Amino acid sequence: MELYIDTANLDEIKQAHDMGVLDGVTTNPSLIAKEGIDYAKRLAEICEVVDGPVSAEVIATDYKGMMKEGRDRAKIADNIVVKLPCTVDGLRACKELSDEGTRTNLTLCFQPLQAMLVAKAGAFLVSPFIGRLDDIGEEGMALIRQIRAIYDNYGFETMILAASIRHPMHVVECALVGCDVATVPFKVIQQMMNHPLTDSGLAKFVADYKKAFGG
Ligand code: E4P
Repeated sequence: MELYIDTANLDEIKQAHDMGVLDGVTTNPSLIAKEGIDYAKRLAEICEVVDGPVSAEVIATDYKGMMKEGRDRAKIADNIVVKLPCTVDGLRACKELSDEGTRTNLTLCFQPLQAMLVAKAGAFLVSPFIGRLDDIGEEGMALIRQIRAIYDNYGFETMILAASIRHPMHVVECALVGCDVATVPFKVIQQMMNHPLTDSGLAKFVADYKKAFGG
């Protein structure tokens, strides 16, 4: 499973990149607002650090506006993926941009038929939001399983990018059901490599060795 980081914070992106296992980045308008920086400028900075796909979301919600912003964002770097909402206008823009050779990520996916239609329109990625479904008492992972089954039934090539991940168990479940990609907040990426028995085991190995041989 590929691992993306879900942030617009350059320091977090650099730290995750330095771990050597980062495949891409997702951003969104809320994440950029948190950084208080120009969106295009930050995207260019991110693309200097990461070679893999960097999702750049449009702000416009109408077809024409999305097409203009999508084309502008795509010019920032070769690895930009234009992120569009799972709406009718987003679907139209997805089809058009995909036909032009621009990769797209269809975001805010909350039901399997949205995923089926965006795959038909040529989306490169679809982003089902697991955490936000869990937040309202639905099972986010059930959506991922449904999309996986539909895509496998018909051989759709759109990659399933699990989004709105809240904790390491979400990542485990995504890997078990065969998600193509998970986009994970930095805090959770750090948690993925942690276990208290690793820390205590390591401390004991070092202490035993020093006791026997000094140093
Ligand atoms: C995905 O690309 C989104 O940026 C993100 O995963 C949204 O997550 P949230 O529900 O934590 O805001």
